[in-house]
Amino acid sequence: MTSTKARCLAIVLAAGEGKRMRSPLPKVLHKIAGRSMLAHVLDAVKQGGQGDIDIAVVVGPDRADVAAEILRAAPGAEIFVQSDRLGTAHAVLAARPALARLYDDVLVLFADTPLVRGETLARLRGKRAEGAGVVALGFAPEDPHGYGRLLTDALGALVAIREHKDADLQELEVGLCNAGLMALDGARALEWLEAISNDNAQKEYYLPDAVEVARKAGAPAAILLAEADEVMGVNDKAQLALAEAEIQRRLRRAAMLGGATLIAPETVFFSHDTVLAADVLVEPHVVFGPGVKVAEGVVIHSFSHLEGAELAKGVTIGPYARLRPGARLAEGARVGNFVEIKQADIGPGAKVNHLTYIGDASVGARANIGAGTITCNYDGFLKYRTIIGEDAFIGSNSALVAPVEIGRGAFVGSGSVVTKNVEADALAVSRARQSDLPGWAAAFRKKMAALKAAR
Ligand code: UD1
Ligand code: CA
Repeated sequence: MTSTKARCLAIVLAAGEGKRMRSPLPKVLHKIAGRSMLAHVLDAVKQGGQGDIDIAVVVGPDRADVAAEILRAAPGAEIFVQSDRLGTAHAVLAARPALARLYDDVLVLFADTPLVRGETLARLRGKRAEGAGVVALGFAPEDPHGYGRLLTDALGALVAIREHKDADLQELEVGLCNAGLMALDGARALEWLEAISNDNAQKEYYLPDAVEVARKAGAPAAILLAEADEVMGVNDKAQLALAEAEIQRRLRRAAMLGGATLIAPETVFFSHDTVLAADVLVEPHVVFGPGVKVAEGVVIHSFSHLEGAELAKGVTIGPYARLRPGARLAEGARVGNFVEIKQADIGPGAKVNHLTYIGDASVGARANIGAGTITCNYDGFLKYRTIIGEDAFIGSNSALVAPVEIGRGAFVGSGSVVTKNVEADALAVSRARQSDLPGWAAAFRKKMAALKAAR
């Protein structure tokens, strides 16, 4: 029954308002790579804890939207409300009932520091297991302004963290800064946090003061170093864009190491959940929204935009293809330029090559959809389906008014507006019959030329 793994509680602070984001959306719900910063942090916690971690999230009052996101990203997490924002230590204490269970390790994370990796959290715990009461994550930012400074003794041991606003000139010279993340001895964390005062420049309860409190209680403190890229905080939209750039850099690298060819990686944008099989070719300027899965050998030509789409082996799309949620392209299907596909299955080897909208539809194997075909799926109130059979041929510039079914092997003449089902192997033509007047054009030209000359 005894577990050799240490029990761990991760407390994620997400009570900040994020005024500098200048948005009604709470800061931690702003997205990078198509997912909220909060969900990124929760995911890192889950990865770092290898399934053996309890999660508590501290949120501001009346934040049903934040709570809903927590339930989505980490269904087992406990939610605690911090009613007044009295500082980071005060925020951690909002999770008092969880802390009182006396875990082996307590990790504290900030939801506005979204790029932290699971492995770094595991390293923080590892460092603590070597005997430190508190481990602070340190980094050397290009510009240390605003960060807490890590103060060390002659032997390099961490003795205190000084907030920028409380630091004297000598302390401000220190380049090593506090990333904010921390690991604490779970058996004593509650006792130490309760001993922190707000006797400082901001009259706030500072979590970093846990270092001095722990040392007074005889527990040494230690520093774990991280790369600045991993611990950058997001406080405004400019920093949000920097975090996006960094996460895209990671996603591109992972895609390429997974075997995808990106001709110009810096022009391709991924979602956190994009799945590319090996040997996929992505040309420059392609955007992946959430929920895209791409199988082997697929070619995605330039300027395509994909979201919620599945592409089977050997599919080719673009340039300028738009795949919207529910687009499923079977093996070898081809979708060409200026084609939009939404909630539709495109069968194996089917071709939708030019200037077409296929929505709420299924297209059978090997069917050929001519240029300019439109499935008219919406009457202003409800949506209807179009079913196109295998080997059907839809002539260019046809409008298929749903609900409608085109039988297998049927032909639809160019320019038709199809409002009734077409049976298998039939030809449907619904446009005015062509009538020709022999010699009319020549006579017209002659008459008009004479008229003009007489003026
Ligand atoms: C904090 C650290 C600083 C560190 C920096 C790294 C403190 C006192 N200072 O400063 O040493 O260098 O992060 O980015 O911890 N929060 C709450 N409730 C509160 C206060 C804060 O939930 O009452 C949350 C915020 O939403 C945020 C996090 O805690 O996610 C950090 O708070 P913030 O005010 O941004 O701290 P910094 O001044 O950046
Ligand atoms: Ca901050």
